[in-house]
Amino acid sequence: MTESATIQKELDVYAIRQQFPILGREVKGKPLVYFDNAATSQKPQSVIDALLNYYTSFNANIHRGIHTLAEEATAAFEQTRDAVKEFIHAGSREEIIFTRGTTESINLVAYTWGRQNIKEGDEVIISCMEHHSNIVPWQMLCEEKKATVKAIPINDNGEIIFEEFEKLLSQKTKFISIVHASNSLGTINPVKKIIETAHKKGIVVLVDGAQSTVHLDINVQEMDCDFFAFSSHKLYGPTGVGVLYGKKKLLEAMPPFQGGGEMIKQVTFEKTTYADLPYKFEAGTPNIADTIALKTALDFINETGKDKIRRHENELLKYATAQLEQIPGLKIIGKAKEKVSVVSFVVDNVHPQDMGILLDNRGIAVRTGHHCTQPLMDRFCIPGTVRASFAMYNTKEEIDELVKGVQRAVKMLS
Ligand code: ALA
Repeated sequence: MTESATIQKELDVYAIRQQFPILGREVKGKPLVYFDNAATSQKPQSVIDALLNYYTSFNANIHRGIHTLAEEATAAFEQTRDAVKEFIHAGSREEIIFTRGTTESINLVAYTWGRQNIKEGDEVIISCMEHHSNIVPWQMLCEEKKATVKAIPINDNGEIIFEEFEKLLSQKTKFISIVHASNSLGTINPVKKIIETAHKKGIVVLVDGAQSTVHLDINVQEMDCDFFAFSSHKLYGPTGVGVLYGKKKLLEAMPPFQGGGEMIKQVTFEKTTYADLPYKFEAGTPNIADTIALKTALDFINETGKDKIRRHENELLKYATAQLEQIPGLKIIGKAKEKVSVVSFVVDNVHPQDMGILLDNRGIAVRTGHHCTQPLMDRFCIPGTVRASFAMYNTKEEIDELVKGVQRAVKMLS
């Protein structure tokens, strides 16, 4: 038995696939090959059932009622907070704040910590490979405060140039917001080293874990990040829920993000006092159903085994890279030593969008374009890429279909 066959058997991908009903459907008369997992992952039946169960059995608003349904809904919602705490190894459940997604988590920090701490002349450092959601909030903040955003350059493989990062640091640097794994390139950034370097200079660091949390073991205490943001929907959970982890001391010192119900201790017309953590940052009725179902998604990942998933995804990444590289005129964008299972590529004389349409005709879902990382595309002097991103349920046979599809498209278009 080959090594890869052992790994596939270990994960039992075919049994996993049975748990994702959508994978049984056809697209344009062909079996669906879903390679757009970096945009959003598909959902197992258990997550779909959790949503149905909430609405059919105990739908109620949380933290407010004393009736049975309210108590059941509150308990289930708060169990997700505990599950998230365990999943990212946070020190305390008070450090887990529910948001709408990674974008809102980052904006929350920019609006609260940022507005409180960034002053005229200060600098915020990001990298060249950031998603727009980790660029624009800092630009908006810096515009308001007359501060500056600076971007760490990357090399041709799509890796941060560490010496250049160090050169950017000065007395003016107050904050670093850095992506853990790039959605466009797959690059895993050396966040621990970045944080260590930043903390020596008293700089606060946020890690955007939108793409890393599903693939890598996350231990926020070991990483020592000050903030960590991610979304449920890339973790086999529902859309509309995100998490912001923040160190308790920082969160306590920050002003609230939004005002409203749930985030208060006492309100009078003269003065309002705010609720304790984490509720200070959770104004209004949250996304109860989807937050509850996020726990089911985390259970699903834990039961499957993150190590096994990672080994399988690494196999897929290696296999896809090797197969695609053999296609004449095809160039992989993003060849970092450390990558999550994302393969981005361009093909001579073929527009990524045309490639995407032809692949869709064969039932293969990839993302094409700039992937919300326009400055990164500018860095590589390309309008966009074709991106295939793999999840635990993908197979080598599906990659073979992709390779055949790309070869056919190249013949037709170039
Ligand atoms: N950020 C998501 C992606 O890369 C939507 O596709």
